[in-house]
Amino acid sequence: MVVSKHIPVMLDQCIESLAILPSGTYIDATFGFGGHSKEILDSLDSKGRLYAVDKDTYAVSMAREDIASDKRFTLKHGCFSDLEDYSKEWGIHGSINGILFDLGVSSHHLDEASRGFSFNKNGPIDMRFDQSCGISACEWLETVDEQTLSYVIWKYGDERYSRRIARAIVYQRDKERISDTDHLAKIIDKAMPRNEKHKHNATRTFQAIRIFINKELEVLKDVLSNSYNILAPKGRLVLLTYHSLEDRVIKDFLAVTDENISTPRNLPIKSEFLKKMFNIVSKSIKPSKDEVSSNPRSRSAKLNILEKANEDYV
Ligand SMILES: C[S@@+](CC[C@H](N)C(=O)[O-])C[C@H]1O[C@@H](n2cnc3c(N)ncnc32)[C@H](O)[C@@H]1O
Repeated sequence: MVVSKHIPVMLDQCIESLAILPSGTYIDATFGFGGHSKEILDSLDSKGRLYAVDKDTYAVSMAREDIASDKRFTLKHGCFSDLEDYSKEWGIHGSINGILFDLGVSSHHLDEASRGFSFNKNGPIDMRFDQSCGISACEWLETVDEQTLSYVIWKYGDERYSRRIARAIVYQRDKERISDTDHLAKIIDKAMPRNEKHKHNATRTFQAIRIFINKELEVLKDVLSNSYNILAPKGRLVLLTYHSLEDRVIKDFLAVTDENISTPRNLPIKSEFLKKMFNIVSKSIKPSKDEVSSNPRSRSAKLNILEKANEDYV
C-alpha cells in the first residue's frame, strides 16, 4: 500500500478562521492524515479538546502517534453526518467552538491504486471512503440503468456528454465485466467526441461516480443542518470545498436559514418565529499562488467561514 504524504491545504488560514480559544473544544470532521488536527492541537492549552472523525478506516488506523497519544485528542471512525450523536456521546453537544471540514479526497485516495479513485492508477473500481460498508462503484456500475447513470454523470460531474458516456459504459458492461479503473477510463475516453482542455477525459465522470457512491452532498447537507445545535454560541464552521457543487450546498443552506432570502414576503410568518442561524464571517478565501504551485491539489480549494448567530437574533 502506498502511504503518500497528504499536504494539508490552507493550513494557516484554516487555523486563523477557527479563531481558536486555547481552552476551547473543536472538531476536525475530516481527520485524513491529521495535518489540520496537529495544528489545532498545537493551538490548544491543556484544557482544550479536539475530537476528530473520518469515514476511512485506513486513515483512522494510520493516525500519527504524536496525535493519537495526545490526551486532549479523541478520534472516531464514522461519518460527519452523525456528528450530533457523536457530540452527545462525547458530552460536548452545544459547547463546540469550531468544526473544520476539509472535504473530498486525500492524497492517499488518489495515489493508492487499490482505492479505485483515480484513472491514473489502475486498480479495482471502488471509490468508497468507507470500505467497511456500502457498495463499491464497480458493483453499482454492474447494475445501474443507463438513464440513472447518465443523470449521475451530468449532475455530479457537470459532464455535457453524460448520455454518450452512460451509453458506452452500459453497452460495454453488458458485453464484458468492466474490470478496473483503466478499463473504465478507456471506455469514457472513447465515448468523448472531443478532448477536454487541460484535464483527462474521464475526470468529470470519475468525480461524479465518487460523489454519488459516497453520498457526499447529502451528508454535507445533513451536517450543516445539525451543526447549529452542536455549536456553542458564536461557534464556527470552517469548510474547505473543492468544487462548485459543495459551494452550492453551502449557499442553499444559508439561503434557507437566512430569513431575508428564504421567506417570501407574502408568507404570513411572524418575524419572532424566524431565526438567522449563521453569519458569513468573510467572503470565501482562495489559496495563494505559492501554495497552488507547491501543492497543486489546493488549486480548486475555497475556504468558507460561518459563525453561529446569536440565539436571540430575530
Ligand atoms: C481532504 S482529506 C482531509 C485531510 C486532512 N485535513 C489532513 O490534513 O490530513 C478528506 C478526508 O475526509 C474523509 N471524509 C470524506 N467524507 C467524510 C464524511 N462524510 N465523514 C467523515 N470523513 C469523511 C476522507 O476519508 C478523507 O480522509
